[in-house]
Amino acid sequence: MKLLAPLLVLFALGVQRSCSSGDDLIYGYECQKSRCVKVELDSQNFQKAISLPVCRIFCSGDVPGTIWPRPSGLVDFDSYMLAVDPSNIEFHLPTLSKQSQLWTASKERFMHLLYAVVPNKNVLRKGGRPLIVSVELTSTLDDVVPRLTLDTDESYALQISSGNGSVATATISANNYFGARHGLETLSQLLVYDDIRREIQILARANIEDKPAYKWRGLLLDTSRNFFSVKSIKRTLDAMAMVKLNTFHWHITDSASFPFEVKSQPELYKLGAYSPRKVYSHEDIKDIVEYGRVRGIRVMPEFDAPAHVGEGWQQKNMTACFRAQPWINYCVEPPCGQLDPTVEELYPVLEDIYREMFELFDPDVFHMGGDEVSVSCWNSSERIQNWMLQKGWGLNEADFIRLWAHFQDEALKRVDAVAQPNQPSINLWTSHLTKVPYIDEYLDKERYNIQIWTQGNDSVIQEILKRGFRVIISNYDALYFDCGGAAWVAAGNNWCSPYIGWQKVYDNNLDTIAGQYRAQVLGAEAAIWSEEIDEYTLDSRFWPRASAFAERLWSNPNESWTSAEARLLFHRQRLTDYDIGAEAMQPEWCLQNENECPINALNAKF
Ligand SMILES: *[C@@H]1O[C@H](CO)[C@@H](O)[C@H](O)[C@H]1NC(C)=O
Ligand SMILES: *[C@@H]1O[C@H](CO)[C@@H](O)[C@H](O)[C@H]1NC(C)=O
Ligand SMILES: *[C@@H]1O[C@H](CO)[C@@H](O)[C@H](O)[C@H]1NC(C)=O
Ligand SMILES: *[C@@H]1O[C@H](CO)[C@@H](O)[C@H](O)[C@H]1NC(C)=O
Ligand SMILES: *[C@@H]1O[C@H](CO)[C@@H](O)[C@H](O)[C@H]1NC(C)=O
Repeated sequence: MKLLAPLLVLFALGVQRSCSSGDDLIYGYECQKSRCVKVELDSQNFQKAISLPVCRIFCSGDVPGTIWPRPSGLVDFDSYMLAVDPSNIEFHLPTLSKQSQLWTASKERFMHLLYAVVPNKNVLRKGGRPLIVSVELTSTLDDVVPRLTLDTDESYALQISSGNGSVATATISANNYFGARHGLETLSQLLVYDDIRREIQILARANIEDKPAYKWRGLLLDTSRNFFSVKSIKRTLDAMAMVKLNTFHWHITDSASFPFEVKSQPELYKLGAYSPRKVYSHEDIKDIVEYGRVRGIRVMPEFDAPAHVGEGWQQKNMTACFRAQPWINYCVEPPCGQLDPTVEELYPVLEDIYREMFELFDPDVFHMGGDEVSVSCWNSSERIQNWMLQKGWGLNEADFIRLWAHFQDEALKRVDAVAQPNQPSINLWTSHLTKVPYIDEYLDKERYNIQIWTQGNDSVIQEILKRGFRVIISNYDALYFDCGGAAWVAAGNNWCSPYIGWQKVYDNNLDTIAGQYRAQVLGAEAAIWSEEIDEYTLDSRFWPRASAFAERLWSNPNESWTSAEARLLFHRQRLTDYDIGAEAMQPEWCLQNENECPINALNAKF
């Protein structure tokens, strides 16, 4: 990048000191030694001073400071800004007809993002240059509705230029819809508001090449312990799209409630939902899946089994230890419940659930759960004990793991039956089944990806990796965002307290966790288990920590959180501009007085 000091802003018109609105400005910013410094506006500096977003875009170092996550490839830009006329933005988008709805929705989203940073549209000054946004897909594609898979190339290149005098152009090239969509997202972060001139500005010239370090970049939401409205899920997808997260892992059911409409087994949700209003209908789910697609997000369902079932199954006589008390003897949290793998009638019911999930989600990867099976739960059932003894098995732990493997094999057959003609790749949680020796006996590395939720330093991780499994990392010591807060079954704090700060999330380096097996890491997921969280506190739990997580996965920076802090503080402000209830990180004073808060910043940087 060319660092031009002082900054030259190309203004179409001079600035009028007299603002007609009541929000006359007192402060502006100047870029001084790679830092935005707040200055009192006076007649001397008024022409030169700029808004905080304009300053941050070019003053923060080697990448425009308003982009989050930071691009991983080449970034080259000039420190010149142009005023853009937001009412004169022209889109040249691909014309594949099966994609037209996606492009229309992306265009609308782009315009929404653009105006959301303008506090009051009525005082926007007229004028500015027209902007042409042009998207070019480089590979010749079949005209089909695009589907994100593990093979999707999400890279893009973005070029902004204004060589043509009166028009600014932004050209995005990508292999497919998903890469191009990310490019639009980056472009929207390069359009900033100058509240001194009351206009939207863009970098006059920029050249960005960008692609993700990891292909699986997910958030998990548990909608069973507490229900989340469709609106709040969409808000989550909106924020995910901003930071290029690409997987919404929907832990849709659990033992506490069954909010998933299964038309072929209606009593599951009729008995299992908290109320008839707290059900995700087929319409709701299609809506969410399409909403995700537009935003570059795969919506992947999890049907957790054989543990973590209960409510909804009460008429079926296919579970063990449902609501058993004292629960602590049979499961890890109330209400207890596990499927009974010995009941033959269970498997057609599973097939019905899977069929509807595959029809609705069309997942390229499916999650079959598989965590926290309790041997004492199964062993409390005479029916299960008898079945095992009749087969000539014992009742030792290894026999119960064999029972679990039997369940897993039978359930997988039902998944494959409904997923025809494809065999989807299957995610499973780390558990007893993924431990030595059972992992070797029962799990095929070609079929299963293991989602790791142990601590990041657990030796189990190397055991799984050295066997060749692909993994998704959700080490709870950094990526369980429900940690911290009161316990809910006793006094004290919850099990994985304390609260995990964004700094730890940012520094949770997957390379360190995987060591020599880095190539087997598909990516990671940050999780919200919802015992103590519902839609009213959802945003502040995810954001801005999920943004810190997103930059780790997209850019995998060598630097630690300290060099990201000022940018994240700015990005968090943007989240709130878009009505995401992101948690405050610091007093706003620290946003306005860059790098004056961190305890070591003055030594490190100046
Ligand atoms: C410059 O802008 C004019 C008017 O918008 C257009 O006709 C022309 O093709 C542009 N030239 C280039 C090189 O972009
Ligand atoms: C549940 O099924 C078992 C056989 O598997 C049967 O003996 C029992 O009576 C059934 N219970 C109910 C309530 O239907
Ligand atoms: C299961 O229960 C039986 C008694 O019914 C007991 O002998 C056996 O040890 C138990 N198995 C496990 C793994 O606890
Ligand atoms: C992993 O780290 C935690 C602290 O975060 C520590 O208590 C634990 O002993 C470590 N475990 C191993 C196997 O190193
Ligand atoms: C991080 O460091 C490695 C090795 O030192 C280097 O190859 C890589 O390009 C660096 N990445 C970034 C984003 O600076």
